[in-house]
Amino acid sequence: MSQLDGLTGMKDLASPEIAVWQWVEQVAQDVFASYGYEELRFPILERTELFKRTIGEVTDIVEKEMYTFKDLNGTSISLRPEGTASCVRAMIKSGKLRQKGQKIWYQGPMFRHEKTQKGRNRQFYQMGIEAYGWPGPDIDVETILVCKRIFQNLALENLELQINTLGTLASRNAYKKVLVEYFTDNIGALDEDSKKRLHKNPLRILDSKNSEMAELIQNSPSLMEFIDEECKTHFETCLTMLRQLGVSYVHNDRLVRGLDYYNRTVFEWQTQQLGSQGAICAGGRYDGLVEQLGGQNTPAVGFAMGMDRIVDLLDVQKKTPVRKDPLVYLVSVGSDAEELSTKLAEQLRDAFPHAGIICNLGAGSFKAQMKRADRSQARFALIMGDDEVQAGKINLKDMKGGAEQKVVPFDEIVKVIEFSGD
Ligand code: HAM
Repeated sequence: MSQLDGLTGMKDLASPEIAVWQWVEQVAQDVFASYGYEELRFPILERTELFKRTIGEVTDIVEKEMYTFKDLNGTSISLRPEGTASCVRAMIKSGKLRQKGQKIWYQGPMFRHEKTQKGRNRQFYQMGIEAYGWPGPDIDVETILVCKRIFQNLALENLELQINTLGTLASRNAYKKVLVEYFTDNIGALDEDSKKRLHKNPLRILDSKNSEMAELIQNSPSLMEFIDEECKTHFETCLTMLRQLGVSYVHNDRLVRGLDYYNRTVFEWQTQQLGSQGAICAGGRYDGLVEQLGGQNTPAVGFAMGMDRIVDLLDVQKKTPVRKDPLVYLVSVGSDAEELSTKLAEQLRDAFPHAGIICNLGAGSFKAQMKRADRSQARFALIMGDDEVQAGKINLKDMKGGAEQKVVPFDEIVKVIEFSGD
């Protein structure tokens, strides 16, 4: 293995693909802001204990997927496998949860030492939101609308929203008991993984992708039978609101999620177009977590989008961001012209702060520089030699419009470009 090979499941992200990442990030940030969310940046490393206490000791993530090591002080620390735990920790620490109603968004790399495959990386990226302080179904629905709007603005198609309710911890525990009895009665039909999960985390058996167990899972008792009236009403209200808003969903009563902190509403956005890693976004309510970590009782709900998978799906669905070509490429031959070109480029950047203004670097003949201007896809080329500088005028060529080259006095360049642009 060469020293230049990165670690398995950890990618470099570069052009041209990076433009798609930046597009998704921008679209998501704009949507988050439009719903009143503010960014929070928390560290990539945390005490291992934090993830154990929140995600759960007997989850796949904590049992076998965390990058955990001792720092130089001997403290056990882990690279964050997700953002919710750190977000809750940071919000309690800041004291902000004392004011009701906090909306937070975050983004960044997460780390899970999983078996890698398409759509499953060891360093992957999430963008997510967490809302604190609202107990009712309205925020659950708004949270779902946030994802929906992001997917809509990216023109993503054929996504399915799967939704379920997990009820309270008490109802889940009662359900677990019955589930253990059911699977114990059918132990011969369980695969090795499921046998291991049977007593530790029987709910996870419902997540099994093993087709030989599909019928067994299909016939297992449903969690819905154990949900109390209050949670049922909360869930029914969510579903009614979604229908009223025209949001289609599938109630999947086998959707249990792989992290322990959830209660009541949970959901996933699924695609069939990415093979087995079809969940592009997932989340739900976690009303007990803030208190469990030492904060005051605070209802909470959120989701995280898997950016790697969204970028893959955009590729499959051939959706690309509108390419923003540079506005101007400045061609200059001769030392006076080069000096003027740099100054002029700065003036153009002042006048058109969102446009690409590319100054030729590394000299070269007119012909060579015009080729570079062409390759840059810039709308205009500004062409100057020392003679033009002496005369106080420059040639302006519309590279896309096919119009004749114009001779323009220096101080009129900005105005002429402004009026010639589309
Ligand atoms: P999660 O389901 O573990 O939930 O991850 C959310 C999303 O991250 C998944 O649906 C998937 O798109 C992406 N993802 C997870 N693992 C990988 C991987 N190895 N490679 C690529 N993408 C991956 C959470 O993380 C919760 N914190 C979500 C949440 C926020 N719930 C409430 N608030």
